[in-house]
Amino acid sequence: MKISVIGVGYLGAVHAASMAELGHEVIGLDVDLRRLERLSAGESPFHEPGFPEILRRGLATGRLRFTADIDELADADVHFLGLGTPQRADGFGADLTALDAAVGSLAAVLPARAGVSTLVVGKSTVPTGTARRLAGRLEQIDGVHLLWNPEFLREGFAVRDTLEPDRIVYGVRDPEVAGPEIAMLDAVYAQILDGPDRPDRPEGGVPRLVMGYEAAELVKVSANAFLATKISFINAMAELCEATGADVTDISRALGMDDRIGNKFLRAGVGFGGGCLPKDIRAFIASAEDLGAGQALGFLREVDAINQRRRVRVVDLAREMLGTLRGRRITVLGAAFKPDSDDVRDSPALEVVSRLMAAGAHVTVTDPEALENARRRVEGLAAVQDTAEALQDAELVLLLTEWREYRDLDPIAAAQLVSTPRIIDGRTVLTPSEWRAAGWEFQALGRPDAPTTLPADDRSVPVADALIDAAAQA
Ligand code: UDX
Repeated sequence: MKISVIGVGYLGAVHAASMAELGHEVIGLDVDLRRLERLSAGESPFHEPGFPEILRRGLATGRLRFTADIDELADADVHFLGLGTPQRADGFGADLTALDAAVGSLAAVLPARAGVSTLVVGKSTVPTGTARRLAGRLEQIDGVHLLWNPEFLREGFAVRDTLEPDRIVYGVRDPEVAGPEIAMLDAVYAQILDGPDRPDRPEGGVPRLVMGYEAAELVKVSANAFLATKISFINAMAELCEATGADVTDISRALGMDDRIGNKFLRAGVGFGGGCLPKDIRAFIASAEDLGAGQALGFLREVDAINQRRRVRVVDLAREMLGTLRGRRITVLGAAFKPDSDDVRDSPALEVVSRLMAAGAHVTVTDPEALENARRRVEGLAAVQDTAEALQDAELVLLLTEWREYRDLDPIAAAQLVSTPRIIDGRTVLTPSEWRAAGWEFQALGRPDAPTTLPADDRSVPVADALIDAAAQA
């Protein structure tokens, strides 16, 4: 089948290469010429395991190519919309400018094809009501149908999540009469739907659920809201642990053994970041308010607030350990919002770095993949690639992104490099007894050495980007 992917950012590029991997003829469109050039040269613009391989294979077989000219994709059978829906400048709500513009340009070139269907398939995360609105515009063209098919991919597992998803969701205008469109998208995904053999799925295949547009839009944001809630829930328990002397990792372990709760997304620490969870929950709150249902999501404001408080807590803990932050040498392990990623969007690590810098600390940051992006984000950042070099002469070490090499650090060897062996484990991944035995003053979020007072409720916490800007100007 001939497929186009409009918007080849993270989601779109992975989707385009994955569709070529399935044997389709794929053309990716974007307005960013530099990105198109890199992709066409087989160069990945981001760190994503497995992506460079399928990108290069797609290019080599001729099944995958990229263009900036929308006329070239007018004759495709299926058009995927992979555009970003970033947070609006006002902090809440999704910015649909790119998506609307793309749909406008597509509508202008799509031919009316009597008797032949053309599918437009939205993959972006959008506020409820977007699909129906866009359908109103696109379906005026003869033969064009819109489906909403949200993407649940995680960075670091994007290729696997695309080719072996847990489920596939199709949102349609009316499930009763959408048979032909559903069959057409099934044909695109045939190999995925048949699914590889997986021990956790003895019946084989990937479940595919058909529902209305609004439900499909909501599934995506509610999945992210649920995951964010799980993380903030355990981080709220971490706050209680800090006040009582309990160890939050004991709580996570015991809770996770209850099948109804499950052990994933219960790791306490400096909280969630990245291009999705923080912006999606804020956009979800805004969209619920627009719909007059804001009360239903009031708790998500608290989920966001707990998440922000953890970033402040690390800085407070550092100040408690050092007496003052001004002039102190602090090494931060990790800049990416999570390991196996070079993404620093709303990275908790970088917000902590900015706060430390704003308080006058001399901060050195290290990360295996994300330093280039981190430097672009935080002006004046002292970034060192080599972990041992970064640890040299530190008065305090903060582990804020749990890359394997930091989890596996040898406390005895590391103690030889630093000036004073003090560490805060901001991701609850190190074993306190090992570090303390090697002479380290050790603190971890939610695993107090001694109980502390709870943070004041009325503390107002600015959002990450404002802070990073402030640090850059300082
Ligand atoms: C997320 C969703 O998982 C994915 O389904 C959706 O499509 C996009 O958003 P991603 O942003 O790639 O994916 O990251 P994810 O692995 O979900 O982690 C999000 C954040 O939560 C990271 O900052 C991570 O460090 C943090 N996290 C995760 C925790 O703090 N504790 C946990 O237990 C798990």
